[in-house]
Formats: sequence, structure tokens, C-alpha cells
Amino acid sequence: MTHFLDIDKTDPADLRAMIDQAATMKQARAGRPKGAPDDDQPLKDRMVALIFEKPSTRTRVSFDVGTRQMGGQTMVLSGSEMQLGHGETIADTARVLSRYVDLIMIRTFEDDVLLELAEHASVPVINGLTNRSHPCQIMADILTYEEHRGPIAGKKVTWCGDGNNVFASFAHAAGQFGFDLTFAGPETLDPEMTFIEEARAKGSKVEIIRDPARAVEGADLVVTDTWVSMHDSQSAKERRHNQLRPYQVNAQLMAHAKPDALFMHCLPAHRGEEVTNEVMDGPQSVIFDEAENRLHAQKAVMRWCLGL
Ligand code: CP
Ligand code: NVA
Repeated sequence: MTHFLDIDKTDPADLRAMIDQAATMKQARAGRPKGAPDDDQPLKDRMVALIFEKPSTRTRVSFDVGTRQMGGQTMVLSGSEMQLGHGETIADTARVLSRYVDLIMIRTFEDDVLLELAEHASVPVINGLTNRSHPCQIMADILTYEEHRGPIAGKKVTWCGDGNNVFASFAHAAGQFGFDLTFAGPETLDPEMTFIEEARAKGSKVEIIRDPARAVEGADLVVTDTWVSMHDSQSAKERRHNQLRPYQVNAQLMAHAKPDALFMHCLPAHRGEEVTNEVMDGPQSVIFDEAENRLHAQKAVMRWCLGL
């Protein structure tokens, strides 16, 4: 079964093929209305289940629209409204859904839920974000970087803020796509060291630098994310804000990066917290291209999962 669970679990040649196919498919439908079908209809007669145990705007809409553009149909399911939220096991849910649908995308809390679903499903499963990682986002980010600046291999990416699920997928991608990664954040919010060690083992230079200005020096891409993720306790909000305030991405910080550095944020953003309006809306920001590219990247991911 060809699941898309994490970037580090996917063959680098397949990852590259997905990015290239996403770029080709995006190009092929340039200028068309959003609801117009692609020339190619690889998902014709295919049914895709989209399960959400957490809120979503981009993931939900981009998977839905992308499936339809490729000729498929979707059903969006909220975890709390399914029997899954009322005691039915993940394994049984996986077996049952596999009898109805051709592909399952899930956004959930614990990574174990994703893994158990994948283990017991007889159709491909896609990770639409867990507490641990967010691979679809970083596929879109690679596509976006390369559209603007060419190959990401050998470039320097600096992450400012929380060592969270989105950072984890950047670390996975550093190893697989061959770019360097610097983490700038407080020690208390460091990422899992295994993410960093694995990327290093694959040849990427991965550093942890506490001084944000020094971390951003020479960066080709500066990235941040919310200071409080969906799975974080709201009671930790004030403490996190206090710890992360020095890592806000603002114009002064961006001035330390390369003059042509790009700025990315997976969104939703908390303007004035992790990033200023000046950077969000400034010339280096590619945040809405990133959001658009969720659509194109995931279409390629779905095709790869289904061997289409
Ligand atoms: N970036 C992202 O995954 O956005 P949503 O939470 O809106 O899906
Ligand atoms: N780190 C964020 C990403 C949202 C797309 C979260 O998990 O809430």
C-alpha cells in the first residue's frame, strides 16, 4: 500500500517526481476557472474520504477541490461525528472505510492514530497533519520555493519559533531534498533531536542557533508558524508567547537574511505575534502562493498514492 505518511518515509525520487508533476499540472491549468476539470481525469470514479479531528481551512478545501479537478468525489468527515469519536477502534474504522472509498486523508492528534489507520486500511492513507508532522504542507512549500528561486538543494532555510509539527516536516525534507536547516527558538521548545539527527545523517547541515539574527544570516528562506498549535494546551499560551517573542519575524530580522530571501508561513498566521504585517504583506512573502500550492502538490500526492 502506498501511503503518504511522512516525507522521511517516502523515497526521494518519488518526492521529486511528485513536485515536478505538481508543477506540470499547475502549469497545464493556468488561467482556467477553479472548478474546471483537468484535461486528465485520473480520479474518475474514485471516492476520497477526508477526516478531520482538528479544524482546517486550507487542507480541507485544497484536497476537496483537487480531487474534483481530477474527476474524483470527496466526503468530508468530522472525527467527532463519526463512531471513531465514540469508541470505535481506529483499526475497525480503517477496515470499514476501505470498503467504501479509494483513498483516506486524515488530520488527527496523535501520530499513532495515523499509523494504526494506515496499518489496517487496504487503501492509501495520507497524513493531513498530526501533532508530530505536516508533510503535505512542506511538499507545497518546496514547490513554492522552487517556482520562485529554482532548486532548493544546497539552500539555507531558517526556522524561527516553536520546534513543532511543521518544523518536523521541514527537517524531514532537508534530508530528502538536500537543503540546510537552522532552527532558532528557545531551548524549552526545541524539536525532537531525532528529526535533526536523521537530516544530518542524510548529509544536511542542521544547526540550532539561539540568537535569531545570527540564525537568519545568509538564509535563502525564513519560515515561522503559530506559537500555539492546535494540540497545545491554551494554558501554556502566555508562557509560550513570552518565550517566543524574541523570535518574531519582522523587517529587522529579515534584513539579516539574503536580500532575495523568501518568507513562508503555512497559515493560519497570528499577525503581530510570530510575524509582523510588514513581512506578511511584504515583497519577500510568498504565503498565498504556498496556500495555493497545497492544491497542486496534494493532487500529485494523491496520484502517487493511487499509482495514477
Ligand atoms: N496550513 C494548513 O494546514 O492550514 P489549515 O489548518 O487551514 O488546513
Ligand atoms: N503548527 C500548527 C499548524 C497548522 C496548520 C498546528 O498544528 O496547529
